Amino acid sequence: MISIIGSGRVGSATAFLAASNSLDDIHLINRHKEKALGQALDISNAIPENSSITIVGSDYSEIKNSEVIVISASTGTYTANRVELLSEQSKMIKDIAKQIKHFASNSKVLIISNPVDVLTYLFLKESGLPRERVMGMASSLDSSRFRYLIARELDTNQSEIKNALVLGEHGDSMVPIFSLAKWKGKPILDIFDEEQIHKIKGDLIFYWKILREYKGPSVFGIAKNTFDIIKAIINNEKISVPVSVLLNGEYGISDVSLGIPTQINKTGISKIEEINLDKSELDLLHKSADTIKEYINSC
Ligand code: LAC
Repeated sequence: MISIIGSGRVGSATAFLAASNSLDDIHLINRHKEKALGQALDISNAIPENSSITIVGSDYSEIKNSEVIVISASTGTYTANRVELLSEQSKMIKDIAKQIKHFASNSKVLIISNPVDVLTYLFLKESGLPRERVMGMASSLDSSRFRYLIARELDTNQSEIKNALVLGEHGDSMVPIFSLAKWKGKPILDIFDEEQIHKIKGDLIFYWKILREYKGPSVFGIAKNTFDIIKAIINNEKISVPVSVLLNGEYGISDVSLGIPTQINKTGISKIEEINLDKSELDLLHKSADTIKEYINSC
């Protein structure tokens, strides 16, 4: 069973993917229950004819057998940056953490709500769940964007870009790992000049804002990246993907949650990967960790 707390744009798009792919039964929760009931009525019609899964509008008391819980709830829409609603969002995540601790402490929890790295940390502290079962969703989305931007700059197809990885904060201090990215086996750093690197970094950080000027908040990228992880957990698929995870000394960083490469399977995070980074990238990752810590301390 999958429970999704927050059935607005991103929560419902994630539910739609899970339902239309017949992944598992789905419970939708929303502070306005009618919204969850309506989304469930709509998405019910996307379940394949031969599938026995169901989707319902639900309450916290019904989430107790959830294998995966997605948190996509939001207290409002940020406009300047993802930390804008930090005080409201941190209060919200603590309330949700209490409910999950009470009703579903055996679940794996995927957090989408922003600022995701801070909220992942606060959720862990409030819920007491082990770090292997709490993942912030962001670096896989940023990595998809990085891959797209490199391909666009090279006027090629994104499938030809390998190892485009973004780590650290899902925010202005995010760290695109240029040193590992390749096009047709060739290091990107041998292809791009300083100006191109600078431009891609900027476009990556402000991707959400540029997109928002056209259509409003992003929906499908984050929903698909979240769906892939839910699917890996439910089907025990063993995938490598960067997620926001609490570090206990890996990369020389502790007591903060940020985007790091991991392996995921049925148990949640089965491994935190320690990959080789350039010294300059490692320094930026440390700076990113410090930025997130400052936000955490301001809560
Ligand atoms: C974005 C949201 C998901 O980056 O944070 O579009």
